[in-house]
Amino acid sequence: MSDTNDITKLVSASGADTDIRSEAAVVAAGPFLGGGCSGSHISPTHTTTGQPTGTKFAKHVKWKFGFWKRLGVPSPDYFPYIGGMAEIQKQGIYEFDKNLITKYGRVVGLQIGGNPSLLIADPEIIKNISVKEFSKAPNRFQHFSGSKNEMRHGLTAVEDDHWRFMRNTLLPTFSSGKMRKMDPLLRVKYKLLLDSLKTNADEGKPIDFKQTFGAYTMDVIASLGFGMDINSQTNPDNLFVKYTKELTNFSLSPLTILLVLIPKLDIIFDYFNVSPLNNRRVMDFFKSAVERAIEMRDDEDKNRQDLLQLMINAHKDTDKNEMEEEQAIQDDPQKWKKRGLTTDEVTGNAIIFFIAGYETTASTMAFMAYCLATNPDCQERLINEIDSAIGQELPTYDNVQTIEYLDRVLNETLRLYPPATRLSRVGKTELDIGGYKIPEGIELAFAVYALHRDPEFWPEPEKFDPERFSPEKKSERHPYAFLPFGHGPRNCIGQRLATMEIKCAIVYILQHYRFKTCDETEIPLRHVKWKFGFWKRMGVPSPDYFPYIGTMREIKKQGIYEFDKSLITKYGRIVGMYLGSNPSLLIADPEIIKNISVKEFSKAPNRFQHFSETKNEMRHGLTAVEDDHWRTFGAYTMDVIASLGFGMDIDSQTNPDNLFVKYAKELLTFSFNPIIILLVLIPKLDIIFNYFNVSPLNNRRVMDFFKSAVERAIEMRDNVDKNRQDLLQLMINTHKDTDKNEMEEEQAIQDDPQKWKKRGLTTDEVTGNAIVFIIAGYDTTASTLAFMAYCLATNSDCQERLISEIDSAIGQELPTYDNVQTIEYLDRVLNETLRLYPPATRTGRVGNTELDIGGYKVPKGIELAFAIYALHRDPEFWPEPEKFDPER
Ligand code: HEM
Repeated sequence: MSDTNDITKLVSASGADTDIRSEAAVVAAGPFLGGGCSGSHISPTHTTTGQPTGTKFAKHVKWKFGFWKRLGVPSPDYFPYIGGMAEIQKQGIYEFDKNLITKYGRVVGLQIGGNPSLLIADPEIIKNISVKEFSKAPNRFQHFSGSKNEMRHGLTAVEDDHWRFMRNTLLPTFSSGKMRKMDPLLRVKYKLLLDSLKTNADEGKPIDFKQTFGAYTMDVIASLGFGMDINSQTNPDNLFVKYTKELTNFSLSPLTILLVLIPKLDIIFDYFNVSPLNNRRVMDFFKSAVERAIEMRDDEDKNRQDLLQLMINAHKDTDKNEMEEEQAIQDDPQKWKKRGLTTDEVTGNAIIFFIAGYETTASTMAFMAYCLATNPDCQERLINEIDSAIGQELPTYDNVQTIEYLDRVLNETLRLYPPATRLSRVGKTELDIGGYKIPEGIELAFAVYALHRDPEFWPEPEKFDPERFSPEKKSERHPYAFLPFGHGPRNCIGQRLATMEIKCAIVYILQHYRFKTCDETEIPLRHVKWKFGFWKRMGVPSPDYFPYIGTMREIKKQGIYEFDKSLITKYGRIVGMYLGSNPSLLIADPEIIKNISVKEFSKAPNRFQHFSETKNEMRHGLTAVEDDHWRTFGAYTMDVIASLGFGMDIDSQTNPDNLFVKYAKELLTFSFNPIIILLVLIPKLDIIFNYFNVSPLNNRRVMDFFKSAVERAIEMRDNVDKNRQDLLQLMINTHKDTDKNEMEEEQAIQDDPQKWKKRGLTTDEVTGNAIVFIIAGYDTTASTLAFMAYCLATNSDCQERLISEIDSAIGQELPTYDNVQTIEYLDRVLNETLRLYPPATRTGRVGNTELDIGGYKVPKGIELAFAIYALHRDPEFWPEPEKFDPER
């Protein structure tokens, strides 16, 4: 038996112990949130976020970002890629920031997506950065530097000298003189607002103020800024409103969340023009609207005093040689002064003014109405002050400023509900912040919301109390504890306009009406937190999960085994989970599993399809394999499946670069691909990916290879082969030329299920199955072989016993289907290997009808996930579950 001994040595000498074990961890850890990103890969300029590879998952490690730790900045442990996002979503930004500040102090290291950022809640430091040392951090942090949309030319995004030039060009538009001149235009709009309120108010109907004020602010910015009468107040379906909403809503869009999680994705999204930040439909609409407005201006308009005219007047035909011009300016910043705005800049700013002027102002007005309605004494006082200050005069830029209490009410509203919950800067150089040396390029985030409710500056912070803004109270407080418009040279350029717009409208309304609460008013207002309530509502035990990320995050952290085990221990054998945004039910009760998979099979005969829209030839779940160690067994099983299944001698054992192997691996490794992770997180994305043919599940190159390989194999079969006994031939024999009128045929079958019996397999079905067999036959078998070798190598007594049973049962006979079945101990070893290392760590079904599972009524369509791995190591069924013991 010297041969056998040699093989044993070979296995251990090639590092089977550690390598297989680490791969076992890979299998168990599963295909989750990839990225070879560790703390050390994060450079201060965010240039490297690492590449996802299978091998980097070699250990069950809890992943820590070390960036802030190394700088000595207090910071919590974060989960990579998700970082603070998960917690922000769970707690809401206010609770999140507040908790951090309470726990770690006024300077806290954060991790948002793959980027470190520094949360700052110290008014003195904020003052330093935004005023005293302005030149060191004059720009905002750009999360999506690669974006190609028009807004990158706008004031909020441009940087350094370019920004300075643009800000100076635009600033005159917002002077108090200009505001005064806009009074007549504004009057038209607030009168229209009152008209639109009147109908409902007079009938005592509730009014949705967010929507009503949104139409008003849209009209104001269009008219004052661009001389356009879009009248969205009378025409709520106005395209401007629609598109601006689409733009302003994007911050909640799942795609935007993804972009924050994985900033590099924006390159993909941009490339395919599907980025929400680069929404061409929306951008093109604004672009053509602005272009039309420019065209329509005639000579008379030259003297108009609106934003657009100022930008046009500054627009000195610099477009012609823009690139050269730009270069010259880079070389000599003084030149900024000499040039006008380019068309792109005019458009970019126009869009930014629409966005900045719409949502912020409308939401402030809606909160102000809410605060007045819920604080009637304040409202009465305000009405009295209006009466005595201006009576029934029409509100103007100047006269509303004489109503002192109005200013306090507005400020107190902005304190409680600042539209910008955080402000951002980025250092151009290393900065000393609270004694820490913060490298250039790190986002500095001012915690506006948290500061506005900090009891150190605002006693009883949750209370609405305009008196906080009396001159006495103001003088007692650090001015930088209040930041609704920011501070310093880069503060809100539209502050005057916004204030005038809000004050005039509120005064005009209060000259005629009072705000009152109604049944629909939510008191108190809840902070919007995002929780999935599906399982809670059904009464199924389930932990709190973060939407979209759900289970994935924990699985990645703990590994699937620990994860399932801890859930079962804590919540019982039926646990509600969310995988991405899909609820799924973890089941670890053998009796229930038996029920679903056998007794009530007809009610749940199918697997859950995570990617329902996927159009590839194969719909099958996979595990990942990516390591040389798998080559031996992998190549063997690949050869076997190719030969036995398809009569192809691909010989990948001697030719490891064989295309078959290459493509099969490509299929098998895709589960580590970040895009797959995205697809699990947000299943609907696959529609987009499919549309652009970039879905990894729809990898045409790979699929086409297999399809043509199978087609060629079918063609090459001649009459002699008809009697071959391989999978392919069997499938071909059933393939009775049904392709011709496949659609009709399919329809007929849908109508009459009996017809299934009469037809053969279509070409697509043969191909699909061929691919599924390759995958199912390759990975699962190869991994089981590898684990079996590992178990034998690490349990030499078992191996010796197996060898002697082989010797006595078949000696040196060649193994066959029949004779290996006589080696009883072999079966035990195989089963024990499969118990410890089941290639499918979970399997599942989906009900086609409501199912009673452990007393819970589970609606149809929910994934039912059987916790195979956890069950296989459950001490209730397997004493000493971690031990390899074929005697079980
Ligand atoms: C209640 C209403 C508004 C609030 C609370 C608000 C708030 C803010 C805040 C906090 C900033 C960032 C300041 C900083 O980084 O320090 C900002 C910037 C800006 N806002 Fe406003 N804003 C409002 C209305 C408007 C309006 C009506 C316009 C224009 C028509 C506007 C245009 C801008 C622009 C262009 C910037 C960028 C300035 C720059 O980078 O130089 N905002 N706003």
